[in-house]
Amino acid sequence: MIEEENSFMTFDIENQTLKKWQKTIDLLSSILDIPAALIMRLNKNKIEVFVSSESENNPYKKGDNEVFLNSGLYCEHVIKTQKTLFVKNALKSNRWKNNPDTKLNMINYLGVPINSPDETPFGTICVLNNEEKVYTDDHINLLNEFKSIIEADLKSISLYKRLVASERVDSLRELLSGMAHEINTPVGVGVTAITHLKSLTRNLKQDYESGSMDKDDFEDYLLSTFEITDLVHSNLNKTAKILKRFKHLTASKTNEKATTFNLKEHILNILSSMKEMISRSHLKVMVISDENITINSYPEAISEVITNLVTNSITHGYSNRMTGEINIECRKNRDGITIIYQDDGCGISKNNIERVFDPLFTTDRKKGSKGLGLCIIYNIVTLQLKGSIQCSSNRKKGVEFIMKFNSLLVVN
Ligand SMILES: Nc1ncnc2c1ncn2[C@@H]1O[C@H](COP(=O)(O)OP(=O)(O)O)[C@@H](O)[C@H]1O
Ligand SMILES: [Mg+2]
Repeated sequence: MIEEENSFMTFDIENQTLKKWQKTIDLLSSILDIPAALIMRLNKNKIEVFVSSESENNPYKKGDNEVFLNSGLYCEHVIKTQKTLFVKNALKSNRWKNNPDTKLNMINYLGVPINSPDETPFGTICVLNNEEKVYTDDHINLLNEFKSIIEADLKSISLYKRLVASERVDSLRELLSGMAHEINTPVGVGVTAITHLKSLTRNLKQDYESGSMDKDDFEDYLLSTFEITDLVHSNLNKTAKILKRFKHLTASKTNEKATTFNLKEHILNILSSMKEMISRSHLKVMVISDENITINSYPEAISEVITNLVTNSITHGYSNRMTGEINIECRKNRDGITIIYQDDGCGISKNNIERVFDPLFTTDRKKGSKGLGLCIIYNIVTLQLKGSIQCSSNRKKGVEFIMKFNSLLVVN
């Protein structure tokens, strides 16, 4: 059972919490005046040093690990028995004299188990010493207090993750019902129109067979047929567009054919199709590019990427500011093409930056954002265009996306 991966343990623990745990552990080693205080964590089939005190003569480094089964470590024993373990001097004990920590001279141990909110083992909090030491009840209570603090932190992390997960389920539900709603209208119009055409055709056939059809009847029919086929055509096109948007979420290939085009001209065309939105936002958008970059690629896919990036800058980057500047720079280099997209808006916080490409991650759900834009961009860039995308941000400088396309065929 212990070898199984504990889903809770794969949760990221935020930097802030880690810093707090580090302080706790440092304090523990200093109060008890011992070289090593540790938080150990079970990670898959390993037991690893998760937080290690920054104290003198501490031989343990974050990330040191042993395979959990039969490691012989004090901490493995604590996790398996779920009991406090005190070893006064391992060298004087048959049970402990050969355990791996004695090689590091750590012959004295006190440790307690730490459990995840679902009661599965998380690891331990422990102190190790290179000489005999006896701990008072106060010391043991202190260790248990710290254990409680860590377990409480784990609980709030778990509650928070569950909240985010349930928000995501809500978004997904909303997204699917939104998609059904969006497709319902054009498909409904198409079905009604084609049913109408069928009945007009049936009537015309009857009139024709009974010999009562005249020229006017036929001309009326032709006119209606054109109108109806136009309507069906445009509504099927709408449906196809909606489906394509959703396809970008998962598919690596769309039906778009690669064509040869000038990159700068193409980007300028995309921006010109967003003219109204951009001028309403009072932003200046600059394209810095060599005139002669001609590529063989997927223009619609690149449109989707640029449109989404600009929309994001306008929606998220400048909500409290009137002016700003977006730069789109295209560079041709030996390995292919690099596109650098920058805005000077409010930027993305450190906590969020790793999550921006996640499907359904948004900081603006209340305003109706769905959190799909960057996920779609990521899929297009990596799967369809076979490139890479990185996002960095600085609160003062705004957001920067660097996209590298090594396999875009540079025609000249
Ligand atoms: N240019 C930007 N400036 C500031 N924040 C941004 C920018 N682009 C994206 N973000 C952040 O990334 C999140 C995810 O973006 P996206 O996937 O397009 O979803 P959505 O636009 O629906 O929120 C946004 O909610 C926002 O917090
Ligand atoms: Mg977006």
